[in-house]
Amino acid sequence: MSAVLEVSGLVKHFPIAGQRAVVQAVNGVSFSVARGETVSLVGESGSGKTTVGRCVLGLITPSGGTVHFHGAPIDKRHNIRSKTLRGRLQLVFQEPAESLDPRMRIGHTIAEPLRSLGVSQAERQQRVRETITRVGLRESTLEQYPAELSAGQQQRVGIARAIITEPELIVLDEPTSALDPTARAEIIDLLIRLQQELETAYLFISHDLSTVRYVSHRVAVMYLGMIVELGSAAEIFSHPRHPYSVGLLSSVLLPNPRLKRELTVDLKGEIPSPIDLPKGCFLAGRCPFADERCRAAMPPPDDVGGGHLVHCYHHREALRGREALDYFDQFQSEAEQVLGAGRR
Ligand SMILES: Nc1ncnc2c1ncn2[C@@H]1O[C@H](COP(=O)(O)OP(=O)(O)O)[C@@H](O)[C@H]1O
Ligand SMILES: [Mg+2]
Repeated sequence: MSAVLEVSGLVKHFPIAGQRAVVQAVNGVSFSVARGETVSLVGESGSGKTTVGRCVLGLITPSGGTVHFHGAPIDKRHNIRSKTLRGRLQLVFQEPAESLDPRMRIGHTIAEPLRSLGVSQAERQQRVRETITRVGLRESTLEQYPAELSAGQQQRVGIARAIITEPELIVLDEPTSALDPTARAEIIDLLIRLQQELETAYLFISHDLSTVRYVSHRVAVMYLGMIVELGSAAEIFSHPRHPYSVGLLSSVLLPNPRLKRELTVDLKGEIPSPIDLPKGCFLAGRCPFADERCRAAMPPPDDVGGGHLVHCYHHREALRGREALDYFDQFQSEAEQVLGAGRR
């Protein structure tokens, strides 16, 4: 399986004006995305998801680590804006308005990436018509302006603009977070269908667990600029192992108050500041299982099988203590009720 995207040991620290301290936004993130695969980055606001996405596209320069696209490095000269890669990487924003010029007709907006690739006008017109239909909009939309469209229709235009160059990778940064639930479900269905048709790889960034569950093949749970757990969506959502993942998932997915009380990992206190991160595991100060070892050094990834990685010294004991099997059966059945059957 050849990777479309390979991220290795990615670090991004932002300087703070007039201070020696830095914002440690991303602290050693590694993952890959294969052709036609959706890998999701999920985590609370401020966990570093957008910063990873911007490094992946070469919009900002990492402080450490590497990003490779089909084996070649993404850097200052080779990125989403450079001639060499133009059209092969694309980005879909949370706010469709960010990629739509209010004074430009939709047809013009969708054609723009082709124009910058030097595609002839005749071919542009044909591909714009094909693409607008492909995203479920009428051809007459091409003559309209963004303000005449609903938020969901605007996001379809944003997606049309991204897929028109047939990219190999699209970074989708909270693409459905600004939409109402109906439009959200429609956009998710559209993205899944387009991926099946075009075999595009998606890096899907979201804080919304129910959406992530539905679109992802694999999921990376982020906390303070680290991936604390990475695995197939089925594994992460039915057998979460890292205390942070369990806390995050159960707080959202368990409707039953008794189960919620029993299963939730009770994380104490506040998220530490990314300017002043603790030594050792970043969760140690909040985790009920933490001991001296956790406070001394960041846990390395533990592969629990099938590429399911957990950065925790205690995930095995933590589970045993809570009668793992019953726990997960109940967790999964409740999660299924809330989320529906999911994608795969
Ligand atoms: N340009 C920047 N300068 C300074 N700090 C930044 C910048 N961009 C992001 N950050 C900080 O980096 C951390 C991660 O932010 P971000 O990647 O946007 O997280 P997420 O997308 O998960 O909400 C946050 O603490 C944020 O305030
Ligand atoms: Mg973000």
